[in-house]
Amino acid sequence: MNRLADLVHIRELSRHEDAGGTLQRICDYLKAEIGHYNWVGFYLADPADRLLLLGPFSGAPTEHLKIPYGRGICGQAADSTEAFVVPDVSAQTNYLSCSIATRAEIVLPVWHEGEFVGELDIDSHTTDPFMNDDEELLTEVAAICAPLVSSILAHIRPG
Ligand code: SME
Repeated sequence: MNRLADLVHIRELSRHEDAGGTLQRICDYLKAEIGHYNWVGFYLADPADRLLLLGPFSGAPTEHLKIPYGRGICGQAADSTEAFVVPDVSAQTNYLSCSIATRAEIVLPVWHEGEFVGELDIDSHTTDPFMNDDEELLTEVAAICAPLVSSILAHIRPG
């Protein structure tokens, strides 16, 4: 993985006006460029209803369009608002399966101006694939994407 080149490209992609399309292109890019990223997507935070709402993603369709806080890996990460790395999903009791091929998952919180606005979620078909450089890269990607996630939220929960 060439982390710097990936970040330069993602920063370039993020300079577009259309937040949804831009997040989609970033998901597509990460999935295409990084072999152990088999599903890449955003969940948007709805704190009033304590729900995560599926946003742009790249990979197989998922039935998990809305995830209550506390449920699954994503819901637990929404409660803790911390990164959650799961090397082996079969060892997790609180896990929502998106695909039977998934072996591992990493979730990064997305923060915008001090507010938890969503998550970046990556599934892998490889067991224990996520190293420190994945977490570093994805933390930066989450920061780059934060204004875009926030702007989509402003449209779906105006005021
Ligand atoms: N596995 C997640 C659900 C989302 S899908 O992976 C897209 C979870 O346990 O929260």
